[in-house]
Formats: sequence, C-alpha cells, structure tokens
Amino acid sequence: MKMYLPCWTRGMALAAALMTLTAATASAQDTLTVLSPDGRNKVGVATYEGRLYYILSRDGRALLMPSMLGFEFKGAPTLRDSLRITGSRRASHDETWTQPWGEIARVRNHYNELTVSVKERVGLGRSFEFVVRAFNDGIGFRYEFPSQPNLTDFVISEELTQFSFADDAKSWWIPSNRPRLDRSEMLYSSSPISVTDSIQTPLTMQTRDGKTWMVLHEANLVDYARMNLAGPRMDSRVLRVALAPWQNGDKVRGRTPFVTPWRTIQIADKAPDLSPSVLGLNLNPPSVLSDVSWIKPMKYVGIWWGMHINTMTWSSGPKHGATTANTKRYIDFAAANGLGGVLVEGWNTGWDGDWIKNANAFSFTQAYPDYNLQELAAYAHSKGVHLIVHNETSGGVVNYERQMEAAFAMYHSLGLDAIKSGYVTDTTPEGNSHHSQFMVRHYRKVIETAAKYHIMMDVHEPIHDTGERRTYPNMMSREGARGQEYNAWSGEGGNPPEHESNLYFTRLLAGPMDFTPGIFDLLIERGTGRPRRIEESHPRTTLAKQLALYIVIYSPLQMAADLPENYENKPAFQFIRDVAVDWETSKTIDGRIGDYVIVARKAKNTGEWFLGAITDEEGRTFNVPLNFLTSGRKYTAEVYADGPGANWATNPLPVSISKKTVDSNTNLSVVLAPGGGQAVRFIPVR
Ligand code: NOJ
Ligand code: CA
Repeated sequence: MKMYLPCWTRGMALAAALMTLTAATASAQDTLTVLSPDGRNKVGVATYEGRLYYILSRDGRALLMPSMLGFEFKGAPTLRDSLRITGSRRASHDETWTQPWGEIARVRNHYNELTVSVKERVGLGRSFEFVVRAFNDGIGFRYEFPSQPNLTDFVISEELTQFSFADDAKSWWIPSNRPRLDRSEMLYSSSPISVTDSIQTPLTMQTRDGKTWMVLHEANLVDYARMNLAGPRMDSRVLRVALAPWQNGDKVRGRTPFVTPWRTIQIADKAPDLSPSVLGLNLNPPSVLSDVSWIKPMKYVGIWWGMHINTMTWSSGPKHGATTANTKRYIDFAAANGLGGVLVEGWNTGWDGDWIKNANAFSFTQAYPDYNLQELAAYAHSKGVHLIVHNETSGGVVNYERQMEAAFAMYHSLGLDAIKSGYVTDTTPEGNSHHSQFMVRHYRKVIETAAKYHIMMDVHEPIHDTGERRTYPNMMSREGARGQEYNAWSGEGGNPPEHESNLYFTRLLAGPMDFTPGIFDLLIERGTGRPRRIEESHPRTTLAKQLALYIVIYSPLQMAADLPENYENKPAFQFIRDVAVDWETSKTIDGRIGDYVIVARKAKNTGEWFLGAITDEEGRTFNVPLNFLTSGRKYTAEVYADGPGANWATNPLPVSISKKTVDSNTNLSVVLAPGGGQAVRFIPVR
C-alpha cells in the first residue's frame, strides 16, 4: 500500500520519513490492510519508527494520511513509542438484523475486520489490539486492552488518536468550546477543515473534488468520555480526539480488560447517501432486551410549549401548567386525535425559584398539590394514552440517582412507561464536564434502570447518540441539538431557515432527534396577543414546513408541539393525526446540506408512504419521481403544500391541501416557498 506525503503536518522531517514508509522496510513494518466488502474503502495499519499509524483511502484516493494512534496515562508512561506489531487476525461478517423500530426495519451488517496486535518493545512491554472494521458505508476502529500485569487500573489523560485529512475538506460543525457547549445547542458553521476550532461530532465533510462525503463520529460509548475533536494546529489538517474531563482533569478511568468506543468514519459518494445511517448501529451489540413488546413509537402532545412562550409556568402559582384539570384536557385531546402520549412538565416539586441552580431540590416522586399523579395515570390509561413523566435534573445527577430506582418503580407500578428527562446545565454540581465519563456512566445507568422498569427514554441535553438504541431499544429519542424551543425564547432570534437542512446531514446521522415540530401559531400570537415581529423569536418556517419536519426529522417519539387550542379548526392538523412514526424503509431522494432535503419513508404495516420536503430561505421547485411507490399500484396523494404567497418571513400560514391519484410513474411537482416545505401522504387505493 502506498503511503502519502502529509507535507503540512509536523515538519518536513516526519513528512519525508512517512513518504518512505513502504520503501524503507528496514524501519517500517509492512502495512497491514483491510478492504470493505465492495473493495472501495481501504484501511492500512503500520508502525514507523516505533509509532503506530493508520491510513484510509477510497477507490485508491487517500482520505486520511498516516494518522497516529496511542494514549497518555496519568502516572504511567505514554503508550505511543517503541511499538511493534506482533501479529494480526482477520474476520468477516455478514448478517441482517431487524430493528424493533427505526428509520428502516432491516439492517445489513457486513464488514471485513482486521485485528492488529501491538506491543511496546521496551519499558513496560504493554500490549493492545487495534481493531478495524471496513464496511461499504464507512469504517470503525477501536483499541482493546487485554488484562496484563503492567496495565491494570489506569487513568487516560489523553487519547492520542488523530485524523489527518488528506484534503482540506469542507466541513459542517458546531463548536465544543463556547457557551452552551455542553448541550450541543448551537447553529452549524461550515469551513475548510484546516480552519475549524474545537468541534463536536458528528462532523460532516465533503472533499474538495466533491467526490466523497465523510462523517466522523463514535459508536458504542459505554464507559468512556465522550469524544470531541481538537482543532488543527498551525495550518494543518490534523484533528485530534479531545475527551471531556472529570472534575480533576482525568479523562477516562478504567481497568483492563477494557475496550474503547469505536471511532467511526461514514463514507458516501453523495450527501443523500449518508441517510439513513446504520454504521453506528452495526458497531453496537445486539439488543439485550428479550421482550420489546412494551416499546412503542408514538406521537405526543404536552404541557410544554406554554412554558416556553410564557403562557404557563413550570413552577407553582396562578399560571402553573401541570394541573390535574389541564392534564385531563390534554389527555382528552390526545385520545380524540389518536395521539399516543401526553408529556407533562412541572408536575413535580423543585421548580420554584431558580430551577437551573437548585439542581438538588427536585423530587421525582412528589407532585405539586394541584397535580394528582395517581388519578391522572389511571385517567390516561382509561383513555389509552401514555402519560409521559418529565424528569428535569438540572444536571443534579447525584440527586437523581439517589431517587431513580424508587421513582422508576413507582412510575412502573402506576403503568407509566415513558420519561422525558433533561440536563439543563453545563458542568455538573460536582464539577464534571457534562460529557465526561462520569456523565456517560450516569446516562447508561438511567437507560438500564429504565429498561428494568419497562420505561422508554427521551433524553434532552443528552450525551450524543452513539447507537445505544440497538442494545437498549427503550433508548428512543434525544435532543442534543438546537430544537424548536429556540424559536420560542425572546432574545434568541430563533433558528434560521437553513437549520433543519443542516441538522439532516449532521446531528441526525447520529440518531433520532426530539426536535418537537408542529407549531401552527407561527407568529406566537397566543403568548402576547400580537404577532411577533420579524426580529423576535418564532419559527422561521412556513406551516407546511412544520408538517414536512415530521418526515424529515426522524424520531420514534414525535411531538405535536403546539398548544391544542392552536390545532382547533385547522385542516392541516389532519396530517399530524395521520403521519406514521415507525418505518419499514426510508430514502433520501435529494438534498444539499444547509439548502434543502427531500425524504420518503414507508410506514410499517399500512403500505402507506410519506414524503417530506424542506428548503432554506430560498424558494425551490422539484420534480420528484415517485418511483419508490410499488409499481402497478395506484395511490391517493394527500398533499400539504405551501399556499399562495406563503413565505416564512412575511406570510407563513397559507397551506394548500389537495388530493390526486398517482403511481410510481408520476413525477410530483413540489413547489416550496422561501422557508417552506411540503408534506405528502400516499395511501394505496384498494
Ligand atoms: C430543556 C428541554 O430541551 C426542554 O424541552 C424542557 O422544557 C426544559 N429543558 C425544561 O426541562
Ligand atoms: Ca434543550
């Protein structure tokens, strides 16, 4: 295998040395390689002058130049130098597994694997294995440490893994070193990779020749710190792993035997081929839950938006949202409209005063006096509605863990089977980073405890999604990005019209998002009695785009976020009643990051298809071939399109609802207003 010249890396000396890597067999061990099943993606692993490197190419073109591997430990020598490859093994795997719910039902897990055994030649003689899996849609690699006398208990102070990009790829990212850094709730920026700062994953990139897309992320994060990326130093294209710290600066505490999470690079020729993304799922262990019959995707409404637009409060008082009477009204509304759940925030004591600071004041079992949890659980049950319990922790995880077992047992005894949790905090009260190993362990403990009590989870301000849902299908949805709530808060300005087209090709490749679509009172007149001005926060979309988001932004728990009264007498609400939340298959028909997305999804069991198309601030027209429909079959298309004169900025409300008969030969004309969208339901004609 040819190694490439990283002339921008660490000085000409190293560059020249690496260039001779294949020729100079005297000092370089032979490169071991592994190819994806289709032969296109190739990973090479070799040592040079005692250091271990990997390299990645596709169709013979370099994507990653030699990129260094290794670790720094606290109180022990760095594991990076005088390394020697002592052996290697190969394996192949091809299996198709079924998801209990998801964007697609059947997932193929097909890869070739190379395991490289590595050992220090001098000093402590520590050893590890470097495992690479090459798939057609990308690669994953991780380190595995066997138990050994000179590496037992350890503290990783730095993971030295590098990603040395062959090309100054264009990249789309959010920072990891700004305010709100721990909640991943920033807007996306794009820049060449060489001028990125400290950033989060998933990081999406397109090579300068336009031929390849890459997404850098991680999979199966169980007992490790979450991975961010440290920006390149001085005109280089080398990103380094940056791990979120414990309070004392430790990154990862462990004991051998030990495996790291997978570092993943999804690879595709075109952006639409990136989604749906299954690479991370395939790198997680199969489900450990034998009975998943209690896990059910659903739509839900909630006592929620009112707090964000200030018509209700979480805290007690005259505007308290979580009252028994108000909750019954929401339950009735959900039951009448076939929506599965009702979320109630502010039901439990602890919200009075500064709830973000008073993290340890929350009770997860004691309701406010005007909220009768037992009665409402029974009422919801009688109406066939799931009452979704809200657990805001404000990052007080010690307080939460102290109560968790008893609280979850109580919810279970009341027949409550879904929790929306929240971690509105940057650093925890103990001083651990929100994304530290401490928090990763906490989130995992919550998932496991929830599974034990048959509870589905929807986590806000989460650890990013690394495919946990394969192992624990009760881990349903998360926030972990800038959601609709930003459109409610005065002073925040709202999300720009391109936001959701950025999300689709970045954050959403990691997994489902509880974005909370479906705002109909787009100028939020209900809050103030007057339309919000253009510079004030409100959704910067048309109403049809709010509908299209149900298809574009995948979540198995999908909210109808507006107040029930704002859906009254609105014909467009029919789409929210009808839209599916669990899919047989999903296809990205077209899309450009930050510009527009067109997605089709086939509902499970009904034969219905749905299409969602969204655009940024530009109006666009598409002719969408409906060749995804079953050929030879007629469908009734119920189209919810931007109405005459619709425009996110000046006139967001007009929706045109129409019906037509179509089949797989039809080209559907999809006309999107500025900031607009279109949602379509295709019903097979029987
Ligand atoms: C932030 C969450 O994203 C939001 O949905 C919730 O209402 C508040 N935290 C309060 O928990
Ligand atoms: Ca949030």
